[in-house]
Amino acid sequence: MTTKEIENKSKSLNYDKALEYWAEIPATLDGVLGGFGHISDEDILGSTLFLRSIMSLEKAPGTKTALDCGAGIGRITKHLLTNYFDRVDVIEPDEKFINSILDYVGENKHKVGSLYQVSLQDFNPERKYDLIWNQWVLGYLKDNDLVNFLSNCRESLSENGILIVKENVTSSGKAEMDPTDSSVTRTLKQFLKIFKSAKLKRIKQCKQLNFPNGIYPVYMFALICDKN
Ligand SMILES: C[S@@+](CC[C@H](N)C(=O)[O-])C[C@H]1O[C@@H](n2cnc3c(N)ncnc32)[C@H](O)[C@@H]1O
Repeated sequence: MTTKEIENKSKSLNYDKALEYWAEIPATLDGVLGGFGHISDEDILGSTLFLRSIMSLEKAPGTKTALDCGAGIGRITKHLLTNYFDRVDVIEPDEKFINSILDYVGENKHKVGSLYQVSLQDFNPERKYDLIWNQWVLGYLKDNDLVNFLSNCRESLSENGILIVKENVTSSGKAEMDPTDSSVTRTLKQFLKIFKSAKLKRIKQCKQLNFPNGIYPVYMFALICDKN
């Protein structure tokens, strides 16, 4: 598949339609996981193991500030990021979700920093981050906006900072569009191409284990600034 074909597919994404879809979804675990609330614990376990391996790298990121992108109700902030970082900022465009984050995070809510009610394609980081977590959200972005967003993230990484992408990938070898929420599920190859365009170097990759059959394979990537 050529770059042109990839771009043409994601170009048909409609940002308003995606936001309208999420506006109708309740601020619950099942809501943000599309009826798959029951896989959250397994997902967090896989992410914890991945993050633990990253925090024990020789050039491990610092533990001051993380950013949760497309945070929903703060599931990852609550169960993962506040366990490792002093401060977690979040980006989430949906008003009802962003308003529910502090309550949902509960006892660690003092660690929640800035709440940015904005879409990723319009976000400009205001500070440096030790870790930026993107999960189940990048399929809403057109390829060119995704490359810009990831490039902005790269520039906002602190020394030894790491960007994480955890996303569904297709096993059919083709990008698949979902008109219901106006999203695209990309192939592994497309992700790698996008990372390269954003000048990000992949230092770790891992497939999420123990998810139910019949859903997309989920991959985690750890990315750093590619200085070459
Ligand atoms: C499947 S949920 C995942 C939430 C969270 N990352 C998690 O794993 O629990 C997708 C989230 O992406 C948000 N979203 C949709 N389009 C977005 C965009 N363009 N920029 C940022 N967030 C977006 C939705 O509002 C929703 O909260």
